[in-house]
Amino acid sequence: MDERRTILMDRYEIGRQLGQGNFAKVYFARNLTDGQSVAIKMIDKDKITRVGLIVQIKREISIMRLVKHPNVLQLFEVMASKSKIYFVLEYAKGGELFNKVSKAKLSEDAARRYFHQLVNAVDYCHSRGVYHRDLKPENLLLDENENLRVSDFGLSALSESRRHDGLLHTTCGTPAYVAPEVLGRRGYDGTKADIWSCGVILFVLVAGYLPFHDPNLIEMYRKISRAEYRCPRSFSGELKDLLFRMLDPDPSTRISISRIKRSTWYRKPIEANAAKIKHGTARDTTVRDGEAATASSSIECSNRPEEDQGSSSLPNLNAFDIISLSTGFDLSNLFEERHGRREERFTTRQPVGAVFGRLKELAERLKLKIQKKESGVLKLAAQKEGMKGFLELDAEVFELAPSFLLVELKKASGDTIEYQRLVREEVRPALKDMVWAWQSDRHQQQQQRCEQSVQGEDQQQPLSSLPTQQ
Ligand code: ADE
Repeated sequence: MDERRTILMDRYEIGRQLGQGNFAKVYFARNLTDGQSVAIKMIDKDKITRVGLIVQIKREISIMRLVKHPNVLQLFEVMASKSKIYFVLEYAKGGELFNKVSKAKLSEDAARRYFHQLVNAVDYCHSRGVYHRDLKPENLLLDENENLRVSDFGLSALSESRRHDGLLHTTCGTPAYVAPEVLGRRGYDGTKADIWSCGVILFVLVAGYLPFHDPNLIEMYRKISRAEYRCPRSFSGELKDLLFRMLDPDPSTRISISRIKRSTWYRKPIEANAAKIKHGTARDTTVRDGEAATASSSIECSNRPEEDQGSSSLPNLNAFDIISLSTGFDLSNLFEERHGRREERFTTRQPVGAVFGRLKELAERLKLKIQKKESGVLKLAAQKEGMKGFLELDAEVFELAPSFLLVELKKASGDTIEYQRLVREEVRPALKDMVWAWQSDRHQQQQQRCEQSVQGEDQQQPLSSLPTQQ
């Protein structure tokens, strides 16, 4: 057996790996001077420099320095070598809260204890102008006393990063936990976005599955934006009421932290020995007009898998690689009919301007009129009448993440066969070099499976069986 010890900077003995992100690995370590257990996050300088993440890392450091709270994972020190940055962090012995939930859902009393700690941590961070923006059970660690430690401020934004309208603009976060206004392309208030995520976390803790899920990512976004979810029947009325107010799709009417703290459910006493684990399934009752479903995946901003670093300088693809490749997130059967498809979608790493520029060139070549261009939609229209009137084609661009777009081509009017021929013979070849994936091509084989999987009403899977990102 290899007995060699790895010593870092003459100060820390490195032990087992605790976790892995896209640019960093986290190791258990022991301080050689005082024997203290720590976690060391090792970040590859080259990789983050290549993808322009240096600023974000610096921001992460300054954020973590700003934040000192019993429920926030502490940063002890930052070190650097020629090739690496090392964050020496508090070691959270209890591991991820997520692991607990993936084994069994919690009783409301047990969940309330964690929820109090979460809300206190978030409230404190907000008071320092720090918004987490990626709150999810995986980012919630437990210490040796089962106390919560919120971790991973890599995606946080300081209030400084607000634009002049006072709202945050980066589409970061995790789809299942992300607030509807974050998914939209307008600015958002970090406070309200974090409250939404806390609502999703609370739901997951007590239900054991996610409130918003659909195998189709866009459908999932729709459910989120309409706050379509169901609570298990076993949820108490007070809990349902609190969740309803936290998962309010309108951030302006969404409950504030001070009101959460005054809610009946929150104020119920925390029993010292709350029965933590609850087994068994529960029938669901409708809260808003949606279906119950589950999944877990994560969108991270500015991250790429390590082995994929050299090929591109664009930082935002990793999450979508995973979502698009994951069988659970089939983008192919978004809204379309199987036959006579009137919509086509592709993903691209190109900027919006390049996509529209190419479509305009195509329009000129084919003598199509460019009728309208407003808020990410370009309307192309044939000048000659076809079988069923003038063929019109809309191209709409959705920013799934910075530098990762979903472009939807839709027949607005005219004959479907003429539209399909235009897409097949002209549009597809013209866009060939800028398309990352045509969704209809990519997931054709998965389509049948997905169609089957969305038919049933209750598709709840335990969280442990769902795809995770890291
Ligand atoms: N996994 C990732 N970070 C960790 C930490 N600080 N403590 C324990 N497990 C971890």
